[in-house]
This record gives sequence, structure tokens and C-alpha cells, in this order.
Amino acid sequence: MITKEELIELIIKENPKIDRSNINIEIPKDRSLGDYALPCFTIAKQLSLNPNLIANDIKDHIDKTYFSKIEVKNAYINFFLKKEEITKKIIDEVLEKKDLYGTKKPNNKTVVIDYSAPNIAKPFGVGHLRSTVIGHALKNIYEKQGYKVIGINYLGDCGTQFGKLIYAYENWGDKEKVKENPIKELNKLYVRFHEEAKNDPLLNDEGRKIFKLLEEGNENYLELWKWFRDESIKEFMKTYDLLHINHFDEWSGESYYLEKAKDVLKELENKHLLTKSEGATIVSFDDMPPALVKRSDGATLYITRDIAALLDRKEKYHFDEILYVVGNEQTLHFNQLKEIINKMGYDYAKDIHHIAFGLVLSDGKKMSTRGGSAVSLHDVLEEAVSLAKQRVEEHATENIEETSRMVGVGAVIFNDLKNYRTSDIDFNLHDILKFEGETGPYLQYTYARIKSLLTHNIDTVINYNEVDINDYVWNIIFKISDFENIITRAKEGYDPSIVAKYLLELAGLFNKFYANEKIIDENINKTAFRLQISEIVSTILKEGLRLLGIETPNKM
Ligand code: ARG
Repeated sequence: MITKEELIELIIKENPKIDRSNINIEIPKDRSLGDYALPCFTIAKQLSLNPNLIANDIKDHIDKTYFSKIEVKNAYINFFLKKEEITKKIIDEVLEKKDLYGTKKPNNKTVVIDYSAPNIAKPFGVGHLRSTVIGHALKNIYEKQGYKVIGINYLGDCGTQFGKLIYAYENWGDKEKVKENPIKELNKLYVRFHEEAKNDPLLNDEGRKIFKLLEEGNENYLELWKWFRDESIKEFMKTYDLLHINHFDEWSGESYYLEKAKDVLKELENKHLLTKSEGATIVSFDDMPPALVKRSDGATLYITRDIAALLDRKEKYHFDEILYVVGNEQTLHFNQLKEIINKMGYDYAKDIHHIAFGLVLSDGKKMSTRGGSAVSLHDVLEEAVSLAKQRVEEHATENIEETSRMVGVGAVIFNDLKNYRTSDIDFNLHDILKFEGETGPYLQYTYARIKSLLTHNIDTVINYNEVDINDYVWNIIFKISDFENIITRAKEGYDPSIVAKYLLELAGLFNKFYANEKIIDENINKTAFRLQISEIVSTILKEGLRLLGIETPNKM
């Protein structure tokens, strides 16, 4: 197959004077105008020559191995690829490589991805869902591109909120209740603390004091904190298991960096980056608000620990890039982090990327419970699974539980990933679970339908003279040949939605093919050929969905 990039190379090889950026290859909507078209206006401008002349010149000199025909029409060159050879090549390659089709060789580069990172003693909210699924998809995409990926779950397990929580637990808590339903009870206590603190602001000081003591190693508080942490992780695991995203290479949370954050303060001090402001210690910048790195009582902050974590990760993994998959609202925080690293004299601020994302909306509003706290993701996922089950039961007779989980969870993940990540996403369980339209279940269903076709196994060597590479077929082949390039683009833009949209297009092309060509034909060659087309589509759908973190049931 020859990709756009390869075509550009072919043109430049014979015409080295042409500026690469002036070669704007198009894919004509009307395929009778070729597989690729090149308008020569910008090139003509660059070389101050007549566009038609240039078009003819390029046509005459280009290496024609891959083309059945090249036509010049006015300022346009239309390239027609050799369909038969290319079709055969793509089919053979996908059949041979299977899910490794589109995988790049290891490139000896390492990327660290910091994602998920829920806060202990709080529900795993829909915001953390976004971080989890986007981060997980990026991890798969980078791996497919040949990178070594270190996935880190930087649990939110320290900060003044734990002082407040311990205060609330000691004053109003009930051990048995917490044991029974830890996150719910702890969250209740936390909410109560805030309500009481409205009337009695001194409570906040109490909370801070306790956190300070905790930081200094008070045993009683440490024990409580550990207990809250363990119970929270146990609860989070239920959600990770449901999502089938339960492997992180590292689970070091913020608390792991409490000590190291103190070393960071010393380093900042030695590098003369600190100023005092009303008793607190800050780092100031020219073009953004200052970052508070030490409170007046000496306690460190979120950003101080993030600096410590970053230095530690660089030392440990020598990463080429580090991605932080965290909501839009922390943009300032990550800009400050980058700038501080820069000011400290490290040279890798440019390799730090905040992969921001928007909110999850329900009917246009920020998703929240009546009490105002974040909606528990686990409840949402379970509802999705039970709704999926109603549909799955209509079609399937076996593996209903597991299939429903894959479909319900897949619907939620796909809905999250199909739009560019910085957009807010709307969340309506009924819509996202539909078996038609731009949904995860639609893709899974297309896959399962192909799987059921493939039970007709025909073992024959295809005689390509007897098959017809019509537009239905050719559009599919052309799309599949773009798979690796799509993944590269998704990686470069940190944007899984490129893969999601691609899969919708591929499924759409397959469904057109399926509606117009009866797969099983009297002619054994045609049947075998169409089955092979179906098979390679299923391979790409499955692999593409895997990259997004979505499973594919064989029957549904
Ligand atoms: N736990 C944090 C929160 O929920 C997110 C942490 C993101 N990672 C980081 N290195 N700051 O807001």
C-alpha cells in the first residue's frame, strides 16, 4: 500500500525543489477521481510556473510501480492505485499479523503516564473515570507505537482533607458503619465536617493541626489514615475490575512524597526560588499567579509533592515524555509545575504534557448528586451494565453476565473517547447504549456479526481474476491500510478520539459492503474473498477497540 506520506516521498524524490508542505494530497470524495488527488496550485506558486505544466511534469517522472493510472486534469493530478495487488497485500498482511497489524517496532523510548488518581475516602467520580479511560487508551496507543509505558496511579492520599476527616471520624464516626460501607461513610463524615465548619470556622484549624501531626508521624492518626486508605483502595478495585483496567505499574500516591517534598523545599531554597508571603512560602512567576509551596505552619502542598514526584520519576525511568491526564481545571497547576522545573535548571519542562479534558455533563449540567458531591462511578457503571443486559438477553443465550459487562462498560468508555478530550461530554445512558449510531455497542455488535459469519470457513486460495474489487471492497481496504497512520496521529495529538472515529468509519464501510454484497455466493472464490474481507475488518475492529480499552464479545 502506498500512504499519503509515501506518495509525497515519491514526488519529492523526482522533484527535490518542491517544498514538502506545498504537497497537499487529498482523498477525493468521488472515487472515480482517483484514490489520491494533488492540486498543484501552491506548488505552482512556489516555483512560479504554470500549474498544469507542473502536474504533467510530476506525472511523467514519478515512479509508477504502485499506480494503475495517473491522470492530469487542469491543475489536478489524479492517482489511481493498483487495486488488486494492494488488496491482496493488505489482506495477506492482516491475516498474517492479526492483532499485531499496525504495531511499530520497539523504539527504546519511555513515556510515563500519570492517570486515574482518585482521592481516597472520596467516591471514585466520573471525572476520575475520564482520566482512567483516556490514560489507559493512551497507554495502549503508545505501546502500539513501540514505546515502553509506565502507568502510574498517583492516589490522592494526603492533604489537609485527611486532618478534617480524622477530626470528623473521632468526633462523630462509628467504626462498624465505616467498616460496612467505607467510602460512603467517610464521605458522609467529610461532608458533615464542612457543614459544621460553616458555623464554626475554628474546626478548619483543628483539621490542619491534625494533618500536621499526621505528617509528623503521629501513630494514632497514621493508623486511621492507613485504614481509610486500605478500605478506599479495596473499593476502587471493584471499579477497576468492572472496567477491566486494573493494572498500574506503580501505585505510589502523594503520601509517598511527603518526605521528598521537604527535600524539594531545600532545593528551591538553595536555588533562590522562594519568597515569603504572609508567612507562607511561594514561587513567583512573571506571567501567572504564584505557587504556594509551603504553608505558614510548615506543611507542604499538592504542588510541592508533584515536584518531588516528577524528580523521582525522571531519576527512576529516564522518561522521554511524561503525561498527566488530569481535568482542564488543573491547567494552572501544571503550568506552574513546568515552570518551576525550568527555573530549577532542569531541561525537560518541554517533555511534560498536561493532557487536559472536559467535564462530564448530564443533560447539559455538571453531573452531581442531590447533595452536591460527585456521582459515584461504580453506580453509573452498574446501571449501564444492567441496561445492557436487557438488550443482550434478547440476542444471546450464553455468557450473558460477562457480555453485558463488556457492553455496558464499553458503551461508557466509547462515549467518553469518541469526542476530542477537552470537550465536555454529555452522558445519557440510554443513548450511549444504543446498538446503532455512534456507540460502543454498535461497534461491538458489528464485530459479533462478523464473527458469526466467519463460522463459514472456506479453505481455498483465492483466484483474484474472479473477484471484483468494487468500491465497497476498495473503500474498506483503503481504510484498513490507514490504520497505523491513524494510531500515529492519535499518539501525536494525545487523542484517542481519532481511533474511535476511525472505527466508526470502518464499521460504516463494512456495513455498506455487507448490505450490498451477499457474502455467501455460488462462486467459491467470491465467497472466500468476501469472508476474508470480513475477517480482516473484524481483526481491526477488535484491535482498535482494545486500544480504547473496550472488549469485544464474540456473540451478542
Ligand atoms: N488526585 C488528584 C485529583 O483528583 C489528581 C492527581 C493527578 N496527578 C498529579 N500528578 N497531580 O485532583
